[in-house]
Amino acid sequence: VTRILTGITTSGTPHLGNYVGAIRPAVEASRTPGTQNFYFLADLHALIKVQDPAKVQRSTLEIAASWLACGLQPDNDRVWFYRQSDIHEIPELTWFLTCVASKGLLNRAHAYKAAVDRNRAEGLEEQEDHGITAGLFMYPVLMAADIMIFNAHKVPVGRDQIQHIEMARDFAQRFNHLYGEPVGKQYFVLPEAMIEEHVATLPGLDGRKMSKSYDNTIPLFAPREQLKKLIFSIVTDSRMPGEAKDTEGSALFQLYQAFANAEETDAMRAAFADGIGWGDAKQKLFDRVDAEIAPLRDRYETLMAKPALIEQQLLDGARTARERLGTPFMRQLREAVGLRDLS
Ligand code: TYM
Repeated sequence: VTRILTGITTSGTPHLGNYVGAIRPAVEASRTPGTQNFYFLADLHALIKVQDPAKVQRSTLEIAASWLACGLQPDNDRVWFYRQSDIHEIPELTWFLTCVASKGLLNRAHAYKAAVDRNRAEGLEEQEDHGITAGLFMYPVLMAADIMIFNAHKVPVGRDQIQHIEMARDFAQRFNHLYGEPVGKQYFVLPEAMIEEHVATLPGLDGRKMSKSYDNTIPLFAPREQLKKLIFSIVTDSRMPGEAKDTEGSALFQLYQAFANAEETDAMRAAFADGIGWGDAKQKLFDRVDAEIAPLRDRYETLMAKPALIEQQLLDGARTARERLGTPFMRQLREAVGLRDLS
């Protein structure tokens, strides 16, 4: 079996980038025979950015309801759906990996480097780590533990996560080398990112990567009217109707492509060359996105009204995933490094 795993940080409202980069490909993969699937709410990761308990809880419910609305069907046998913080083995494995992770490698992690660069740009060269928590620095190690506790082969993600998966491979290799080779065991498989090229970085309203931190997102389940308003606010250039438009670098075109099939995309490319007006192009984008999202939105509203049902699914997912896989694997790993045998 191929094990497929991915998570979303519970630090806000899920957006179209999360949907095309992670949720849509992951739900599709969960319907492929011969796979085991592990999808989770990364609430431990949320603590790195959000120190507002109510916000973490709200986001957890929203993201959980989103997964289910998008068609995920957890069965606790082939498809598991859970909260990261309910898998107690994850923080334990994080420590094991911390002790094999190279600090120099973590220095090069994008999120940490971006924070250092911001400090430098503000003239804080002397204290480039000012305001940066050890949590942010350790983020890739926690993420590696998420992936490695279930020994996932494939991780569906957007392009921004590739570096983290490469780091997980590095930690897996080091652990295998240190503890596996002497006893002829391969404890960890080396995980790979699973990326859909044409949606790997979905742009936001301002043309930069759609991201909570840029405040340029289109919420996945924005009410129809709001979705329309947001789509009509996407930045475009000043070319008039009748003037040919560039698809290259057009956020509007990239968004369209993420929701359209090849034929529709070709037709839109031709319309750009023929000078379609921006208003018409936005209307077409709105129609396309809404056609895909509207049925899911109805299910989302229904699910949001049943938090107890979602909670039970998450608890069952965590319990069974631990029983079947996480706990026995952690026993093996404890033995591998020389800790007390729990069996
Ligand atoms: P997060 O919560 O920032 O994003 C969740 C997923 O959405 C993808 N994504 C995008 N894809 C395309 N275009 C965009 N504009 C866009 N914005 C976000 C992300 O690439 C990601 O796949 N650290 C992770 C969560 C995580 C995780 C894991 C993922 C924790 N542990 C283990 C995989 C495996 C994160 O913060 O993603």
